[in-house]
Parts: sequence; C-alpha cells; structure tokens
Amino acid sequence: MILITGATGHVGAKVVTQLAARGLPVRAMTRRPEAATFPAGVEVVAGDCDEPASLAKAFEGVEQAFLMTSQPTGSPNLHTVVQVAAAQRAGVKHLVKLSVAAGGEEGHELVAAWHRRDEAAVTDSGIDHTLLRPGRFMSNTLGWKHMLGRGDTVHVAFAHRASTPIAPEDIAAVAVEAFTNPALRNRKLELSGPEVLTPEQELAIVGEVLGRRLTLVEPTTAQAIDGMVRGGMARDLAEKMIEHVLAGDYGADVSPVVEQVLGRPATTFRRWAATHFKEES
Ligand SMILES: NC(=O)c1ccc[n+]([C@@H]2O[C@H](COP(=O)([O-])OP(=O)(O)OC[C@H]3O[C@@H](n4cnc5c(N)ncnc54)[C@H](OP(=O)(O)O)[C@@H]3O)[C@@H](O)[C@H]2O)c1
Repeated sequence: MILITGATGHVGAKVVTQLAARGLPVRAMTRRPEAATFPAGVEVVAGDCDEPASLAKAFEGVEQAFLMTSQPTGSPNLHTVVQVAAAQRAGVKHLVKLSVAAGGEEGHELVAAWHRRDEAAVTDSGIDHTLLRPGRFMSNTLGWKHMLGRGDTVHVAFAHRASTPIAPEDIAAVAVEAFTNPALRNRKLELSGPEVLTPEQELAIVGEVLGRRLTLVEPTTAQAIDGMVRGGMARDLAEKMIEHVLAGDYGADVSPVVEQVLGRPATTFRRWAATHFKEES
C-alpha cells in the first residue's frame, strides 16, 4: 500500500491519479474524506497532522508513503516530522518527500527552514527515501484566474524575477517513478521545468493561450506583501519570503533530472497553461 499525504494538494492529487492509473494500491489521506473525490479503487483515509494520533490508522499496513508539509505559519508542529514518526512506528519501508529546491539550503526564510528540518527528519529516519526538490510550481499562476475573470489586467508580483517553473504533474510523475524504481532510492532529485521564464513571460503565454490581450501591473514590494497577508499569510513570513525572492537569482537553472527520470522532456509552461487556463476556464 502507498499512502499519499496532501492527497488533495497540487502535487499529491496528481500522485494519487497517476499511481491509480498504473493499478497500484493507493491510500489517499485528507482531513475531510467526505469533501474529496479520488479515482475509483483509491482507499481514502482521514488524517490530520495537527492531531498526530490520527496518523496511526493512515500509516497502518503502508509500505511506501508520499510526505508533504503544509503547517500554518508559526505552528511548532512540522507536518513531515510528525509523518516520519508515524511511518517509523508503522514500519514503512520507503518515503518520498516533497521538498523544495536545494532542500531549502539557499533560503533563509521560514519555509526553507521547514524543509531543511523536514529533510533531516527523513534522512535521519533510517527509512529508505527519495527527496524531490522542485523549484517554483506552474500552479502558482492559477492565482491569476480570479483577476482574469474580472478583466484583462493582471497584478503580478516580481514580474521580472526569472525561475524555471515546473508542472505539478511532472513532480508527481517523478514521485511515481521513485515509488516504482529502486534505483531512485536514497537520492536527492533537483527538479525544474524545461525553460527559464519570468512571470511577465508566463502571463504573455497565458494571453496567447486565451487569445486575449492582457495587461500586466507590477505591485510595489509593500503592495505584494499586503496581498500575501490578505491571502492568509502571516506578515513576518510574507516579508521574509519577499526578502528571499529579492536576494538573488537562485532557482533559475534548468535541471535535466525530470527528463532523465521520465525519459521525456519536462512539460513546457505553454502546454501546461493550455490545459489549466483554457480547458478548465
Ligand atoms: N508552490 C511552490 O511554488 C512550491 C515550490 C517548491 C516547493 N513547494 C512545497 O510544496 C508543498 C506543497 O505546497 P502547496 O502550497 O502547493 O500545497 P497544496 O498542494 O495546496 O497542499 C495543501 C495540502 O495540505 C494538506 N493539509 C493541510 N493541512 C493539513 C493537516 N493539518 N494535516 C494533513 N494534511 C494537511 C491539504 O489536505 P486536506 O485539506 O485535504 O486535508 C492539502 O492536500 C509545500 O511543502 C511547499 O513548501 C511549493
């Protein structure tokens, strides 16, 4: 049995779908099983990392698990750390951890620090593991959809900051390979999309996909922080994340690992956007 934590999330949901499509036994963990929809044959289990006792049932009889971290800002309880403890108790044999580029080593803000501690919990667990270290997700641009629903002006923070955005579907496909190919055990996989893009270039591609002339407005740093706070992020975290974003051009190198692992090129932003902006709009 393969347990997927964060099974309703951007990457976790794709891992569930792709494992199920291969006919592998999958258990999807969510805090609200009644609200989630999964493919036929997927076992659904209730689990909440803020109530660690609930994880015992989720990890029972599990051989491999996909771990992700999503605790609220300021929480002393790191979700991956709690998950690793439950995995150890259940005798899990292999962990695939959704981390971040460079395992957070390049970051000095809270999320990077979370991932550094999470990775240490996984690598010190004595359990075989695979660390997935993606850069920026293409799905972050889905936050533009509500503005596109109102008109052709889109507010895009740090519009000229280059990165190598990656499709969550590709991260999930690498996770599936990690579960099924023993050669990927005890490896750290640095993952990126196939090209260097700025948010300005991504928005131009979305405009072409939608056949619309879109206007980009770049908020000031203060406005960007206020927007993140309105979106639910604690102000000190928002400030530190912005400081981190402005600190350098890390995360703008294309990694060959997705293509090496999957035997096909990583998904381009244009192809991904055609699915997620056009067909789902
Ligand atoms: N976004 C990026 O650009 C990026 C880049 C690199 C790395 N990452 C990392 O990727 C991970 C996913 O990020 P995301 O923002 O895209 O998250 P997300 O996919 O939106 O995931 C949220 C998931 O967390 C689960 N969750 C929330 N609270 C939980 C709890 N108390 N117990 C158990 N599960 C809980 C939710 O499950 P239910 O609500 O169904 O319970 C949901 O499936 C994060 O660790 C992030 O740091 C993100």
